[in-house]
Amino acid sequence: MTLELDSAAEPSPPEATNGVWLSCIGCEETYSPFDDILYTCPDCNSLLEVRYDSLPTFDDFSGSGVWRYTDMLPLEEGVSIQEGDTPLYHVPDLEDELSVSSLHVKHEGMNGTGSFKDRGMTVGVGVAQRLGVDRLAVASTGNTSAALAAYGARGNMETLVLLPAGKVAAGKVAQASLHGARILEVDGNFDVCLDIVQELAARGEVYLLNSLNPFRLEGQKTIGLEILEEHYERHGSYPDRIILPVGNAGNTSALYKAFREMVQPGALDPADVPALTGVQAAGAAPIVEAVENNWDGIERWNDVETIATAIRIGNPVNAPKALPGIRETGGTAVSVTDEEITAAQRDLAGEGIGVEPASAASIAGLRKLRSSGVVSNDEEVVCLTTGHLLKDPEAAAKAGGDPEPVPGDTDGVLNHINN
Ligand code: F0G
Repeated sequence: MTLELDSAAEPSPPEATNGVWLSCIGCEETYSPFDDILYTCPDCNSLLEVRYDSLPTFDDFSGSGVWRYTDMLPLEEGVSIQEGDTPLYHVPDLEDELSVSSLHVKHEGMNGTGSFKDRGMTVGVGVAQRLGVDRLAVASTGNTSAALAAYGARGNMETLVLLPAGKVAAGKVAQASLHGARILEVDGNFDVCLDIVQELAARGEVYLLNSLNPFRLEGQKTIGLEILEEHYERHGSYPDRIILPVGNAGNTSALYKAFREMVQPGALDPADVPALTGVQAAGAAPIVEAVENNWDGIERWNDVETIATAIRIGNPVNAPKALPGIRETGGTAVSVTDEEITAAQRDLAGEGIGVEPASAASIAGLRKLRSSGVVSNDEEVVCLTTGHLLKDPEAAAKAGGDPEPVPGDTDGVLNHINN
């Protein structure tokens, strides 16, 4: 893939930034990061991203987990509960069945709270402490709320989570609850929850830690960096393609940023940047619609539905960052049905890897793109699985076999299993 990188067009930093600053992806205005609380550009309302005066190469990284990559994070340390350093599993059966050169699964469900959200929160909650705010809030389909609750608890800060009533998997609500978040069940979908929490943040009532917050995406970049390093160590090559489930498109944006920031200092050849390939559920697929129609932006879907409740999202706020990422890395986006998601969840379980439905979308997407020939058989592929099976026990139990009642004696059990 060729990645266009016009360094002449790089915005210049504001003064006195200590090497870290914010830049608007629309008008390129720059801001210092910790003076004011900013989520979007005060001038044009576009998304902001974190920028650095100088960027490291692979040789500069040391240690493990998210903070291994501190040279490309906005803080030296955050509120940490040992996040990142998740396994990259080889999946030989799926690799055979889908007939690709190699297939690995980066299982983000192995983070402490069971999803990739920990990577963003260790940075985001750290920034919140640095800014001196006291009440943290998110809208969430579940995982963000669990991670915010845990990291907020660790940082001794008050947390508020807005969840779409009746549409959040049980494990996630239980986590948010036990870690001490105040849970507000909103009569509306995730996008409505996000509208409200953005308004609360604009009124100065809460500090927003959704992926609209540019600092959170800095932590999530480390997924891409770990994949590059681990894949290279094992295969002497970088993956041709990374396939990931898409909701708000935060990870898509974060991985694209990670790759650009490795290309810029010459640590990564633009030709080696993996093709970012997003997968959405058919019932919530505005990014896929925008990619298929070659639109510059997305159109909000007001009615969304899918078994993959984590990605039941109709207004992906990071689309302006993610769409260029998909296009410029030579990737694509595809939608999959709930049945295809469940089948993929079973297949991963059959290789010993337990994921929640949204995560299985990456494998379901690969299967679809292999049958249509978009992904070719010589590709080295990494699928991202974003959340643990136990997040959504109900979906797992439905996808699995039913328990069988047996009598309470050995002969009765033997008789049952042999018939
Ligand atoms: N997979 C899982 C398990 C998720 O929880 C999410 C997002 C995604 C994928 C989508 O990632 O937004 O970076 O494209 N969950 C958010 C939440 C919305 O509130 O937990 P994205």
